[in-house]
Amino acid sequence: MEQHENSFLKIILLELSNLLLLLIELIRRRTIINYIMNIRSAYLLILLIASGIFMLGSCKKLLPATPANDQLLDGPVDGLSFEQQQQFLKGDKAFNKQVFTTVTGLGPVFVANSCGSCHAGDGKGHPSTTLTRFGQTDSSGNSFLHLGGPQLQNRAIPGFDPEVIPAGASFSKFTPPANTGLGFLELVSDQDILALSDPNDANGDGISGVPNWITLPSYIILQTNAISQGGRYICRFGKKGAAYNLLNQTVNAYNQDMGITSLYSPFDVYSGLETDPEISTKDLNAVVFYLQTLKAPVQRTPNDPEVLSGKQLFSQIGCENCHTQTLKTGYSLVTPLSNKEFHPYTDLLLHDMGPGLDDGYTEGNAKTYEWRTPPLWGIGLSPASQGGSYFLLHDGRAKSIEEAIVLHGGEATNSTNQFQSLSTSDKKSLIKFLSSL
Ligand code: HEC
Ligand code: HEC
Repeated sequence: MEQHENSFLKIILLELSNLLLLLIELIRRRTIINYIMNIRSAYLLILLIASGIFMLGSCKKLLPATPANDQLLDGPVDGLSFEQQQQFLKGDKAFNKQVFTTVTGLGPVFVANSCGSCHAGDGKGHPSTTLTRFGQTDSSGNSFLHLGGPQLQNRAIPGFDPEVIPAGASFSKFTPPANTGLGFLELVSDQDILALSDPNDANGDGISGVPNWITLPSYIILQTNAISQGGRYICRFGKKGAAYNLLNQTVNAYNQDMGITSLYSPFDVYSGLETDPEISTKDLNAVVFYLQTLKAPVQRTPNDPEVLSGKQLFSQIGCENCHTQTLKTGYSLVTPLSNKEFHPYTDLLLHDMGPGLDDGYTEGNAKTYEWRTPPLWGIGLSPASQGGSYFLLHDGRAKSIEEAIVLHGGEATNSTNQFQSLSTSDKKSLIKFLSSL
């Protein structure tokens, strides 16, 4: 976008300098009237203006068009106040432009040096920016904390050794998810999430769905009417649903991904020693606000007849039993997020996805084979941020939407089987629907 505007500016400057040269020429010849009377010169002037217009026109064609609003994921929700827009921009800058170095606290061990390097354009990330976590096989906790768990920091600043996965530790790889519409998901009430849960499969549809109950760090401020079970609370972010809210996720990302300590998480990931905050609470809060107010992806062709029939099939064959179409937010001080219905296609619950998707690693109370239903909104835009191809499921192993569906097991077996027995044209409609999200 910036590049596009720059090129236009250059051409306009070029045209202006041409006109200036002409003017100098006129002054040199002393009289403008004389000049205009000169037919040959008038002809030259017309030619010059025409060529200018032509240049502007053709440059419009040659330069890439600015992407349409529904193709972009990194803009704010509509309706923020002026102050909120400023806060969004501040967070945007800290998220995308703040690159940490050894001077500003990076490491000593780390995975990357900025949030934006893994979450470019806020779309799904490429497998080259994967995070690896290891060492926890059940809810009893991580047995490899003394050897660098849970997250592998595979890079180090000079003078330090990067971590390696210890012998005997099972691990899982995670590709970066899209970061859009997260503020809406954060505002879904615990009651609504629990209402979708069916731990004992009372309705007999083969699908249970449980929240990830976790003991929270002390800096967390509970959401209104938070529901607790034995002192633990419902977590919803991350592929295992192990982060309570966006503050929790952000604090951990600074600490675990970049070795950046904060007031909320002051212990260095390498030495375990308490340090002065390496990111200010103001900047960190701005990043959280940025994540909260990133707009939700916009469906591109909702009224296409094939998309509509795909949508019907999606619910008929039971995809919607986990990928819940509509959720609602509670009250928020941020008006555009407050009391809104939205369509993320997730129930924010953990599901048994079968042995094929079991990596032998887990977080919180989730089992190794359990994954939180990922939202499907924006899925059609994944190739735009994944280098032109799809890399779906938690580790990017599925190279197409169809492959992702076929790899579903466990609670989704019935639904996947129904997908397999659809006609070719029905499968095509279903995929067209998903690509439109
Ligand atoms: C090395 C790459 C990398 C860096 C750097 C990184 N992330 Fe992430 N991020 C990921 C991956 C991979 C996941 C998925 C991990 C998981 O689900 O537990 C993720 C998950 C998230 C989520 C959860 C989204 C959801 O749908 O639940 C948020 C929010 C997030 N990151 C924000 C940040 C912020 C803020 C920063 C900078 C402080 C950051 N990330 C830095 C790779 C990265
Ligand atoms: C039992 C719950 C459940 C059902 C039923 C289900 N899914 Fe999923 N779906 C999930 C979970 C959980 C994942 C993430 C698994 C992983 O990352 O390993 C997922 C992942 C996906 C993905 C990849 C998303 C991404 O961001 O990588 C697509 C596409 C998808 N499902 C489509 C469907 C379709 C279409 C159906 C119906 C045929 C369906 N799902 C049925 C729970 C379910």
